[in-house]
Amino acid sequence: MNSKITWYGHAALLIETGGYRVLVDPYLKGNPAASISPEQVQADFILVTHGHGDHIGDTIEIAQRTGALVICNAEISKWLSSRGIKTHAQHLGGGYRHPFGYLKLTLAVHGSGLPDGSYGGNPAGLLLTTLEGKKIYMAGDTGLFGDMRLIGEEGIDLAVLPIGDNYTMGPADALKALKMLQPEHVVPIHYSTFDVIRQDAAVWAKQVEQETNVTVHLLCPGESLTL
Ligand code: NI
Ligand code: MN
Repeated sequence: MNSKITWYGHAALLIETGGYRVLVDPYLKGNPAASISPEQVQADFILVTHGHGDHIGDTIEIAQRTGALVICNAEISKWLSSRGIKTHAQHLGGGYRHPFGYLKLTLAVHGSGLPDGSYGGNPAGLLLTTLEGKKIYMAGDTGLFGDMRLIGEEGIDLAVLPIGDNYTMGPADALKALKMLQPEHVVPIHYSTFDVIRQDAAVWAKQVEQETNVTVHLLCPGESLTL
């Protein structure tokens, strides 16, 4: 059995593990890079890293249609619950064994305000140990921080990192992050969706492969990687 990860564009991902479909940061409507619509996407669970519109995205609509359980921080959980959505609240540093694997919320250096201006708590990264035993670290929106070294000690199979710059780590800091995380594989995301975060990922990939042992996978929206 394998774990499979599909990039839907920007920060939206689908992780398939043990027959479960785990959707992450489903910003699809209005996302110029989206490879699937909110009406088509399937999910048993939805993970939301933080409250910004390009991450919480179409969570409410998709959860209503699919009945997916939404997993996020306590503040976003409260906001979604008040809108009738089923949630499971966790918080930074805390892990929980869900049917699809063990999920820990990690630090992220960023903001988390919700689209209507409500307080969205602290932003998170996600560290998922899948049912196939693969460790996937999704950094979320974050700047570089030294405690990524501690996350690296967990033994990461795949890191999913933002490289867009402006709102998050750019290519140079994402390269530094990889040196601390030391994953087997990396998928860059959160770039070139908009002009302000345009990056040449192929140039970055070349630099990563020159300076580290990490294998870079440049996915196009809609493409998958099997671990
Ligand atoms: Ni953000
Ligand atoms: Mn973002």
